Amino acid sequence: MKAAVYLFLVAFLALASSCAFASDPSPLQDFCVAINDTKTTAAVFVNGKFCKDPKLATANDFFFHGLKEGNTSNQLGSKVTLITAKEILGLNTLGVSLARVDFAPKGLNPPHIHPRATELFTVLEGTLYAGFVTSNPENRLFTKILNKGDVFVFPKGLIHFQMNVGKSKALAISGLSSQDPGRVDIANTVFGSDPSISQEVLTKAFQLDKGTISYLQKQF
Ligand SMILES: *[C@@H]1O[C@H](CO)[C@@H](O)[C@H](O)[C@H]1NC(C)=O
Ligand SMILES: *[C@@H]1O[C@H](CO)[C@@H](O)[C@H](O)[C@H]1NC(C)=O
Repeated sequence: MKAAVYLFLVAFLALASSCAFASDPSPLQDFCVAINDTKTTAAVFVNGKFCKDPKLATANDFFFHGLKEGNTSNQLGSKVTLITAKEILGLNTLGVSLARVDFAPKGLNPPHIHPRATELFTVLEGTLYAGFVTSNPENRLFTKILNKGDVFVFPKGLIHFQMNVGKSKALAISGLSSQDPGRVDIANTVFGSDPSISQEVLTKAFQLDKGTISYLQKQF
């Protein structure tokens, strides 16, 4: 009887701890440089990717050259350049990645979420209006005007955005707590999914008429 209770407790604690640590799994070795071979990696995924023999790893596996200014000539006036384990294979299993975000004057990085990462956003140039919204039922908005040298946190999974409110271009670098943070743009995913979400769903969800929904769907 005692043994059964003990086993139950162990199983319960194991389950509880696996629920509590909902971040990238910790590596059990110094590094695991991913093999950049789509044929091999398509077969089986071990902690994301297969590892290269550590003896064959080189400095270039941990290096990226040319984090250049992004082209902001688009509708939103912003460009995100991501450096994940796809770009630096040595980042595989290490639980971090990076983004460079360029903004034209009035440029917007639209409301989006990273399903797998908290973001540390650091402004290197310009002035940005940034914010995030908490989950239901509070849906509380936290905002800040950020200048050069300012850092703001976007907690994992929450909707957030940044807009350039200065007169010149703006630049920020983000650290993200996953080797593959993922990104869900709210407007694109809802109004630009492929295939489209039915208009009946969208009209009811957003309390809008069909014409407005059609108009929004055409934008994405
Ligand atoms: C930036 O993007 C625009 C629109 O796609 C394109 O016309 C332009 O040539 C690009 N500029 C550079 C420097 O690549
Ligand atoms: C990985 O392979 C792809 C396709 O061959 C290539 O485009 C990409 O630059 C490679 N990435 C690295 C980090 O070597």
